[in-house]
Formats: sequence, C-alpha cells, structure tokens
Amino acid sequence: MNIKLTGIFLASFILLFNALYAQNNKQPIRQTTTGTSIARGKVVYTNVCLPCHMADAGGVQNMNPPLIKTTYVLGNKTTLIKIVLRGFNEDVEINGQTYSNTMGAHDDLTDRQIADVLTYVRHSFGNKASTIKATEVAKVRAIYKK
Ligand code: HEC
Repeated sequence: MNIKLTGIFLASFILLFNALYAQNNKQPIRQTTTGTSIARGKVVYTNVCLPCHMADAGGVQNMNPPLIKTTYVLGNKTTLIKIVLRGFNEDVEINGQTYSNTMGAHDDLTDRQIADVLTYVRHSFGNKASTIKATEVAKVRAIYKK
C-alpha cells in the first residue's frame, strides 16, 4: 500500500470512529436524566437532610417528621420547593403525630441541588411522584426573593 492510500484509510477510520463515538455518547445522557438527578440528590440528602429526617426518611418521633408518603412530599411542587428554600415552622400533624420543631431555610443550596434532592426523595422510601426540575426551583426562588 502506498502512503496516499494509507492516509485515506486512516482518515476514514477516524471519521467512522468519531461518528460511532458520538452516537454512543448521545443516548445514555438522554435516557438517564432522572437517574442521574436521583443519584446526585442522594448525595445532597445524605449531607443535608439525613441528620434530621434519618437515612430511611422515617424522621424522629415528635421532632422531625418522616418524608414517607406525606402530603408535602407527594403533593404540590411549589409548596414542597418552598419548604426547602424557606424552611418550615408551623404546627403540623403528619401521619398522626404533631410536629412543631423548626426546619431552617436551605436557600444556600443551588436550584439544581434542590431539584435533585426532591427528585431523590420523591422516587425513594416508597414515594412515587414526578421529577422536579431546576427551572421549577428557580421560579419558586424568584417568587420569594426579597
Ligand atoms: C434541622 C433539622 C432538619 C433538616 C436539616 C431538614 N429538615 Fe425538613 N423538617 C424538619 C422539621 C422539624 C420539620 C417540621 C417543621 C414544622 O413542624 O413546622 C420538617 C419538615 C419537612 C417537610 C414537610 C413535612 C413532611 O414531613 O413532609 C419536608 C418535605 C422536609 N422537611 C424536607 C426536607 C429536605 C428535603 C431536607 C434537606 C434538603 C430537610 N427537610 C432538612 C427538620 C429538618
């Protein structure tokens, strides 16, 4: 084989390889959006929420409520996002128990982190609810920005 032919052969090989590589790279990203959000959210949960709400989300009796199938966790997204952003300080009855402790604001977390942690919670501990996006958190943050 002369040098010219070898060059053409190499060039086509590189083009083919790039095309295959690009195709392989596209698909997983699209398919695992919720999956990666859940994985990142688990890290946020472990670092930020776990000390109060516990690893199994069962909470601590009469102190910190559970995050298992509560109306807040499964319900309205705006209300849920607001709880994390602004904190929560009301007398509430959750699953038959009264809670009046204070949960502080977590507005130091990014929109992405709040979306991830809530998506994680809404897909774990027996909860089944929709994903929460960073853009949805940004909207709620904008409403309550002073
Ligand atoms: C310092 C302890 C503490 C931390 C940290 C904390 N919470 Fe809470 N959380 C509470 C308490 C206490 C309440 C109940 C407040 C009340 O009675 O008004 C609560 C209430 C809630 C509620 C509504 C009630 C329910 O059980 O459904 C949600 C949802 C929630 N927290 C999610 C989170 C998430 C997500 C994080 C992490 C980003 C987090 N919390 C971090 C203590 C905490």
